[in-house]
Amino acid sequence: MEGSRGRYSSHVVASLAELHAREEARFVESHPRSRELAERARLSLFEGVPMHWMRKWPGGFPVFVQEAKGAHFVDVDGIEYVDFCLGDTGAMTGHAPGPTLNAVTDQSAKGLTLMLPSEDALWVGEELTRRFGVSSWQFALTATDANRFAIRLARHLTGRSTILVFNWCYHGTVDETFATLGDDGVVRARSGNLGPPVDPAVTTRVVEFNDVHVLERELARGDVALVLTEPALTNIGIVHPEPGFHGALRELTRANGTLLAIDETHTICCGPGGYTQVHGLEPDIVTIGKPIAGGVPAAAYGFSDDVAARLAGRIELEDVDVGGVGGTLAANALSLAAMRATLGEVLTEEAFPRMIALAGRWTAGVEAGIAESGLPWHVTQLGCRAEYLFTAHRPRNGAEAHAAADFALERYLHLFALNRGILLTPFHNMALMSPATTEDDVDLHTEVFNEAVRELSR
Ligand SMILES: Cc1ncc(COP(=O)(O)O)c(C=O)c1O
Repeated sequence: MEGSRGRYSSHVVASLAELHAREEARFVESHPRSRELAERARLSLFEGVPMHWMRKWPGGFPVFVQEAKGAHFVDVDGIEYVDFCLGDTGAMTGHAPGPTLNAVTDQSAKGLTLMLPSEDALWVGEELTRRFGVSSWQFALTATDANRFAIRLARHLTGRSTILVFNWCYHGTVDETFATLGDDGVVRARSGNLGPPVDPAVTTRVVEFNDVHVLERELARGDVALVLTEPALTNIGIVHPEPGFHGALRELTRANGTLLAIDETHTICCGPGGYTQVHGLEPDIVTIGKPIAGGVPAAAYGFSDDVAARLAGRIELEDVDVGGVGGTLAANALSLAAMRATLGEVLTEEAFPRMIALAGRWTAGVEAGIAESGLPWHVTQLGCRAEYLFTAHRPRNGAEAHAAADFALERYLHLFALNRGILLTPFHNMALMSPATTEDDVDLHTEVFNEAVRELSR
């Protein structure tokens, strides 16, 4: 167990390892069946997990799930949890939402994948147009693919090869986005970047979020095909845009012939049409994945009329299936039926105010705990998601947010919560509210969080 990076009095830092060891022992003792399955998993799965980032769960081995419904799940040891991770937004709808479940059951009997359109595709395209304002949609299976295809098409259209992202962004496993800015201003492969095909500095320009001056300088070089960004960063804590940032971003991209793609995969937490709708953004391309089919793999990317008109006729019919934008199962009938039900009956206009109010309640509970403990932390809300960070100051950009991260402390707090029936994402201190989450769920977190910080500040 490494020590924390030292924002506390020395006795707290010293005792973090002891506290963690105590929680780990409690976890192991109370999860015998998960432990048994984790040991068996080592015989057939690489490092004992079906997906390598499941190693990141605290506790030494992951909790194995029996079943999940709404905002709760039960593990194989019969322990029930409130799920604030919600599949890191993949299950923002709550688990197994009724309308999606019915649509999946119904569609399963009628054909899963055909490579032919169904009427559901039209309904979903029309609904996404209504929500996000761009009007020419395509489908993929993951937000990663939606972003990859947006990048390819932007390059194809502009004839430029470079893309620009903001420091410490995350847009899925997209090669061009695994770049960070060194203290010396040089673009480098992000730490942990496995086998990059080329040095990301060749493909990618990286600028700090909210830095209009440097953005202007980099776009003025005239070689950037696309700026790809979340409208507020959500993958390095939450970093809000400063007033005027989006206006400047739009103006500068237009002035320099650069396309602007807004990735709403997480920021759909702001409302049915994401941050784009709430704040009247005017992107050229919108990408979205994760929750839009209630947990069934599905993603979408849509172009403005202008981009669609410019692209029309520029994709050769003979090569349309082998040009680097594809996916045999993309736009399959099951995904589209699930998207229609999820957008039409789960992630609705009516659902969001309640979810956002719950995130407000979660934020207030955490804020009170931080204030009482005197720890130099803060909490930030963005729609129905909220996250605390280990610094008193709200970061302006990815570098400041990254500097406030503390892996050891984060793991301890997550394990403390897990041992008391609460699941947070292993990648952030983030909580997400679904239509099925209740005030009691939120209040349980407040109680547990307060207990944890009281102990840390003692
Ligand atoms: C903003 C954003 N875009 C895209 C993705 C990629 O999603 P997926 O892993 O489902 O492809 C993520 C994943 O966390 C994300 O946070």
